[in-house]
Amino acid sequence: MTQPFIAPSLLAADFANLQRDLDLINRSEADYLHFDVMDGEFVPNISFGFPILEVVRKYCQKPVDVHLMIAQPDRYIDAFADGGASVIHVHYEACTHLHRTLTRIREMGCRAGVALNPHTPVDGLEDVLEQIDVVLIMSVNPGFGGQSFIPHTLQKVAKLKQLLVASRSSALIEIDGGVGLTNASALVGAGADILVAGSSVFGASDPMKAIQQLKDCQQP
Ligand code: DX5
Ligand code: ZN
Repeated sequence: MTQPFIAPSLLAADFANLQRDLDLINRSEADYLHFDVMDGEFVPNISFGFPILEVVRKYCQKPVDVHLMIAQPDRYIDAFADGGASVIHVHYEACTHLHRTLTRIREMGCRAGVALNPHTPVDGLEDVLEQIDVVLIMSVNPGFGGQSFIPHTLQKVAKLKQLLVASRSSALIEIDGGVGLTNASALVGAGADILVAGSSVFGASDPMKAIQQLKDCQQP
């Protein structure tokens, strides 16, 4: 089985020891740092924004995977690109003009991602696949870390994989929410390329080992 890319989610880090946790990510086999932005409108929670991104840019050597859970992402794409994002995900449900939004993300030199809430079918992406570098499938309702994986998501990953293959799209599949050692190998088997993991990494007694195990998709 091919090894997935691993994107530990900063949301679960210890903010009193942010530099320490970023250093841990630097030394680990993580491929990205997942950066969750919540605005209290698109999701019922508020997380962090530009001041923390500045710290991340200063101390983190891994590419930053920005997940915008915000109502009007177009207003902030340039700022997140200038702030050092490598990938910017906007939510399908938050974009009236998705094609334009994705085009702008690429114009700003970032990879363009589209995130789908659990209830949003993958078929809606068919006519915009050429503009997409990564599809982020939410396997929990966005807004909080530490929630349980919604089992149906596994079929959704498989369905998206079929759609991408049939359309000859090279977009990657990213999965976010409740991901850990119990479901990693099934997700990768279904077609997931990038695993986002918050609590299963930072809540582990040995986060470096947890990243390594996710990478190897080892069953616990
Ligand atoms: C949830 C966020 C996730 C979250 C994942 O809204 O988008 O990225 O940090 O956390 P875990 O892995 O704990 O479910
Ligand atoms: Zn996320």
